[in-house]
Amino acid sequence: MGLTGFFLISFLIVHCFINSMIFFNDGGETFNHWGHFMGSNLIIRTMEIGLFLFLLIHIIQGLMLWAQNNAARPIKYAMNKPGKNSAWYSRSMGLLGTLILMFLVLHLYHFWLPSRFGGMANVHALETTTLGDYAGQEAHNLYREMQIVFQGNIWVVIVYVLGVISLCWHLIHGFQSAFQTFGINHKRYTPLIKAIGVVYSVVICLLFALMPISIYMDWVN
Ligand code: HEM
Repeated sequence: MGLTGFFLISFLIVHCFINSMIFFNDGGETFNHWGHFMGSNLIIRTMEIGLFLFLLIHIIQGLMLWAQNNAARPIKYAMNKPGKNSAWYSRSMGLLGTLILMFLVLHLYHFWLPSRFGGMANVHALETTTLGDYAGQEAHNLYREMQIVFQGNIWVVIVYVLGVISLCWHLIHGFQSAFQTFGINHKRYTPLIKAIGVVYSVVICLLFALMPISIYMDWVN
């Protein structure tokens, strides 16, 4: 879980960084440029297969761990004060993971499906744009797609924000946990790793949450 977790943590940094280009307020030009690069680069497209594979392995391993933990103590403690011996987000990794999975299914339906399967996916019409710096090449207008998904759709915005809040809690625990899996548990360094994990989780999730909110509120255009 640690290895797949590290891979997913890195993916989120790249995904968040590229999406944040919408905040340039240039009608999505910079974002579409990078979106096109990511969508057309052969190495990155190959990594996409790895991403989905790792995501699947991470989910299956998480479910197995959750089942093992339950089976290890079929008769519950008569006296258990979970609040005293573990943080709540560490106890709720399964619940948060499930919420994130629900968000992810909706998210891939909104963006990945139309992008890869076009009209066949029948989700929404995907407009194209002309990329000036790619010798006038036509590319998917991913920025316009964000507007189609979020503008005027308050429920979609709420689901995305809730999904991202769940992701934040999941990452806060998962970040440090990934290091621990590799035996990195040190009196001096573990508090630092934990602090970096909290900063990483909050910054990434805040930026992600700001994307649907800003488009809905018309803060970027
Ligand atoms: C909340 C703000 C987010 C926005 C606006 C957003 C937007 C997008 C867009 C536009 C794409 C399509 C890229 C393309 O077609 O080439 C995409 C793909 C994807 N997103 Fe997000 N995303 C957000 C958050 C997240 C989060 C939090 C996760 C993971 C937990 C995530 C996971 C993915 C995955 C796995 C893909 C498919 C990757 C691929 O095309 O290879 N996204 N997203």
